[in-house]
Amino acid sequence: MTATDESVVTRFNPLDPQLISDPYPIYARYRELDPIHWGIASNPALPGSWFLFRYAENAAVLIDTATFASNPETVGMQSAVPAAFAPVTAIFHRWLGAIDPPDHAKLRSIMSKAFTPRRVAALRPRIELIAATLLDEALARGDGRLDIIGDLSFPLPMTVVGDALGVPQGDWAHFRQWSEDLSKAVDSPGDEVAAAAGAAGIQGMFDYFKELAADRRRQGVDGADDLLGAMIAAADDDGQRMNEWDMLAICTELAVAGHETTTNAVAKGIIGLMDQRDRWDELRADPDNLLDGAVEEILRWTAPVQRQRWRWATRDVELDGRRIERGQSVVSILAAANRDPAEFPDPDRIDFTRPRGGHLTFGYGPHFCLGAALARLELRVSLNVLLDRLPDMELEAPEAIPWRPNHVLPGPAAVWVKP
Ligand code: HEM
Repeated sequence: MTATDESVVTRFNPLDPQLISDPYPIYARYRELDPIHWGIASNPALPGSWFLFRYAENAAVLIDTATFASNPETVGMQSAVPAAFAPVTAIFHRWLGAIDPPDHAKLRSIMSKAFTPRRVAALRPRIELIAATLLDEALARGDGRLDIIGDLSFPLPMTVVGDALGVPQGDWAHFRQWSEDLSKAVDSPGDEVAAAAGAAGIQGMFDYFKELAADRRRQGVDGADDLLGAMIAAADDDGQRMNEWDMLAICTELAVAGHETTTNAVAKGIIGLMDQRDRWDELRADPDNLLDGAVEEILRWTAPVQRQRWRWATRDVELDGRRIERGQSVVSILAAANRDPAEFPDPDRIDFTRPRGGHLTFGYGPHFCLGAALARLELRVSLNVLLDRLPDMELEAPEAIPWRPNHVLPGPAAVWVKP
C-alpha cells in the first residue's frame, strides 16, 4: 500500500491551526488510525509528505541517514526557501542540520571537539548569573506580574549563546534584535517585509561573527577559552580545521537553533507545571532530588521542535507496510513520538520518575542536537531560579494565553504569572 485511504482518515495538514496550542488529540487519532500517513506537504510544490506518529518509525527513520537524507539535493529535489531568504541560502546550506554524511560527520566531529560537555558545564555560573539578573530586573519593576517569556526565557538563550561565543555584553542587544526579526519572519509566512528583515538578521549575525573571528586572529588568540576560540582552533582527526564559511555558518546555526527551542521548553514547561500543579509543589518540596528528572520530563512533554525538518528517501523503502518512494519527503513528528503510549505510559501526565532519556525531543541519530547539554542546563537553571524567586507563582488567565502562529516551534507569545 502506498498512500493513505481517505475513507479511514482525512489527510493530515501540518498547518492546521489547532496544532499550535493543542496538537495531542490530533496526533493520537492519526497514531491510532494511520500512523505512517501520506498527508499534505507544508510546501505546496510537493504532492504530499509522509508523517510519522509513532515512536518506533520516528526513531528508525532518524537514525538511518543513508536511506533518509536531510539535504533534498541528495535526491535531486530543490530546497524550498522563501524568495526573501534566497540571499542567505549559502549560509543555511552549511548548517549541520542541512548536511548529509560523510561531510556531516566530518564537520560534526570538529564541532564536538569545540562544544564539549566540559565547556558547557563551565558555562553554568554565567548562565545562573544571567538568569538571576533577568528575573531580578523584572521583579524590580514592582508591578506584581512577570512574563516568563519576555522577562526570562526569550532573552536568556540568546544571551547565553552570545556570551559563550565571546560576544561582548554591549552587543547582546543586536542579537536579540536579529533573533526577534528572524522569529517574526518565521511566524509570518508570506510577509515579504518580515522575511527580508529575518534574512537580514541571519546576515547580520554572520557578518558579526566574521568580524569577531577576524579580531581573534589579529590578536593571535584563536585558542581563546570560549566557544568561538575553540571552534577556530578545533580540527578533525586528520588535523584539518573548519573553513571560515562553515565556521561562521555554524555560529549562526547555534544562535538560531538554540534560541526559541529553549525559550519554548521553559515557557511550555511552566504552563504544564502550573496546570499539573501537584508536580510543581512536588518539585518545590525537593528540588535537589527531582530537578534532573523534571528537566528530562519537561523536555519530553514540551517537545519544542514539534516536527523535524524533512527527510528525503534516497531509495524505495517499506515502513510497516507503507511503501515510501525514492525522492518522497518524510516528516518525523517528534512531539507525537514523545506522547506514544507504547513508549511512555500515561503520556500526557508529567512524571519526574519516568526512566530518563529515550524521548525524541533532541532528535535521534547522527543529527542529535549538538546543544542538548546546554539546553538541559539552561532549563535546569531557569527552573531553579523560578523555584527560588517565585515558589508560589500562579498563571494569570491560563485560558487566555496567546500562541504564536508557528507550526514547527509553536509556543506562547507571553506567559504572565503572579509572583
Ligand atoms: C530545548 C532546546 C532544544 C531543542 C528542543 C532542540 C532540538 C533539536 C533537534 C530536534 C535537532 C535535530 C535536527 C535534525 O535531526 O535535523 C537539533 C539539532 C541541532 N541543535 Fe538543537 N535543540 C535545542 C537547543 C539547542 C541549543 C541550545 C543549541 C546550541 C546552542 C542547539 C544546536 C543544535 C545544532 C547545531 C543542531 C544540528 C546538529 C546536527 O545536525 O548535527 N540546539 N536540535
